[in-house]
Amino acid sequence: MAEARRIPIYPSSEVNLSLRTANLVFMQIEKVGIIGSGVMGSGIAQVTLLGGYRVTLRSRETANAHTMVEQIKHSLSKMVKRDTLTGSAADEALSRLEITTNMQDLQDSDLVIESVIEDLETKRELFQRLDGLCKANTILATNTSTLPVVEMATATKRPDLVCGIHFFNPATQMKLVEVVAPITVSETTLDIAVSFVLSLGKEPVKVKDEAGFVVNALLFPYLNSAICMLERHVASMEEIDRSMQLGCGFPMGPFKLLDLIGLDTSLNVLEALHFESRSPSSVPATTLRRLVAAGRLGRKSKHGFYDYE
Ligand SMILES: NC(=O)c1ccc[n+]([C@@H]2O[C@H](COP(=O)([O-])OP(=O)(O)OC[C@H]3O[C@@H](n4cnc5c(N)ncnc54)[C@H](O)[C@@H]3O)[C@@H](O)[C@H]2O)c1
Repeated sequence: MAEARRIPIYPSSEVNLSLRTANLVFMQIEKVGIIGSGVMGSGIAQVTLLGGYRVTLRSRETANAHTMVEQIKHSLSKMVKRDTLTGSAADEALSRLEITTNMQDLQDSDLVIESVIEDLETKRELFQRLDGLCKANTILATNTSTLPVVEMATATKRPDLVCGIHFFNPATQMKLVEVVAPITVSETTLDIAVSFVLSLGKEPVKVKDEAGFVVNALLFPYLNSAICMLERHVASMEEIDRSMQLGCGFPMGPFKLLDLIGLDTSLNVLEALHFESRSPSSVPATTLRRLVAAGRLGRKSKHGFYDYE
């Protein structure tokens, strides 16, 4: 196995450190656990491998984990063809990847990032389990788009070591990562999360633990408004997409973006935003609910607003 990267952490703020977090000052991140083999889990695994870390990817089903490995291999081979990665660097990255269905295999991770379904109860249970099995100074992070990170932190006995590390889709390409600070987190943990994100070549922005953080709090009311506009027959889906692309210079229109994000994830995000803000702009459009009920989840199910077969 190729030598894994280690990043030493030099926190800028060491005030009020508890004894346990004080140990983190000397902590090195070498092994990263990733949970969830969906759209985001696979992208996060790839960028973490390319960042030089050892990655243990935990999926509930072996078949899903294998599919993910194939996706990562395919994506790395495309980078090699485009000359943005050498063949040996791709092989080396893959040699640091381990897949498992067993949660116990995450116990010696320095950092675990969960990216499972956007459901608070599922995530709270997961954090509780991770807390019981991971070593005492493992940082536990969530890739949630909107859910309160503090609720996951308080499911553990280490709330000072829990934060959000929120990647954007596709994680391999999008530069921004929101580092989410629940009121329970220590400054040291945040410093480590920021250093980790920088080491991946991404741009971290520290944000407060408020539904939707910065980007989704602004983005989702817009996406939802586009669906309501379609329901009012203001223009066709293709025309609304084209208008926002050509009129605003966006890389894609709202319906293409909703399909890329996943309609089930989008519905969960809007519900979480609405639960917290009660703003009418985040009441999920009926069409979105109906498409999700019909199993049309976007690109990942080959059908969403558009068809992909
Ligand atoms: N899709 C996006 O654009 C995007 C962007 C940023 C963050 N996120 C967040 O990332 C997380 C995952 O989203 P995704 O788009 O990868 O979703 P996805 O539907 O592609 O994958 C979800 C994963 O969760 C697993 N899962 C489902 N139910 C589970 C359960 N009960 N217990 C454990 N695992 C379960 C599935 O097997 C799958 O591996 C969510 O929190 C989402 O809000 C999504």
